[in-house]
Amino acid sequence: MTRIRSIVRGVGSYLPQRVLTNDELAKTVDTSDEWIQQRVGIKERHIAAEGEFTSDLAVAAARAALDNAGLTPDDIDLIIVATTTPDYTFPAAATLVQMKLGMRHGFAFDLQAVCSGFVYAVTTADSHIKNGLARRVLVIGAETFTRLLDWTDRTTCVLFGDGAGAMILEGVELAEDEPERGILASALRSDGQHWDKLYVDGGPSSTGTAGHVHMQGPEVFRHAVGKITDVVYATLEKSGYTVADLDWFVPHQANKRIIDGAGAKLGLPTEKVVTTVDIHANTSAASVPLALSVAVADGRIKPGDLVMLEAMGGGFTWGASLIRW
Ligand code: ACO
Repeated sequence: MTRIRSIVRGVGSYLPQRVLTNDELAKTVDTSDEWIQQRVGIKERHIAAEGEFTSDLAVAAARAALDNAGLTPDDIDLIIVATTTPDYTFPAAATLVQMKLGMRHGFAFDLQAVCSGFVYAVTTADSHIKNGLARRVLVIGAETFTRLLDWTDRTTCVLFGDGAGAMILEGVELAEDEPERGILASALRSDGQHWDKLYVDGGPSSTGTAGHVHMQGPEVFRHAVGKITDVVYATLEKSGYTVADLDWFVPHQANKRIIDGAGAKLGLPTEKVVTTVDIHANTSAASVPLALSVAVADGRIKPGDLVMLEAMGGGFTWGASLIRW
């Protein structure tokens, strides 16, 4: 008997050129580099240029992932873009990415789960592969999240950045005696009763505007560590592995204190935790694939490694995915 598994063929990322440091931000809003680093561990973030849209960031990350995989757009059947900041209310950013890659076949759609978007998209891609709807899926997390910020609100504007990351998943048939690889297990959760703890006060159906980010920071913090660790344990349980088996933990990069808290609660050594929040800030759905790309490019994540992805965000939504690289 054969088993279809979704394996990782390649990863890639893109960051806009412009870097905004905490010190620069402190010139326009009442904050300081010290406060930001101490509370959330962020030093700087990238900001998309005027006229540079989410689909542009996504295409750049997609091209990097295709190069990394040695594939072309002709080899892709499905594009999923996880984003909260699409270029337009519709069509989906994913169809714009499809057009910009010159892809005239297959299908493409966006997925909205805010900061958990990439983990949701990876899980959705895995299901599509296992159901035979697609063989190779380009999964992208892309955001111009800073366009949702009120730059006079110091409680939110210091936290976020722009960027994109991509991963190509491919369905392969494992022979009976072949060891498991690719996506081994995932778990997704949401609880809409927390919607107003982290939300944007606008939308096509309510105000007709894009709106700005609002957050009850301490409430988000209070829920984050428990929800993250619960879903990581649920994923491990499904796969039969334990925390001790993990080679790498690649969490959503929202906040160094949340990452450290989750790592400590899981009992993970800090050297197994991939952290890029200091240089990327919170890029929402882009943060996990951006961190993955860094750790693959610098040689930390290698074929055969056991990698746990995790994210939590607005909704609340949260989820985790375990991958044998
Ligand atoms: N610079 C300086 N002072 C600030 C800033 C800032 N950027 N932001 C808030 N403050 C002030 C507040 O005004 C307040 O001042 P006051 O006491 O005079 O009223 C003081 O700092 C403390 O405010 P709190 O909100 O209680 O600060 P807290 O210690 O909770 O830290 C923070 C705020 C860092 C946002 C924290 O709640 C947190 O980390 N929450 C998680 C939020 C998060 O990570 N969100 C990302 C999106 S969600 C996700 O992706 C999981």
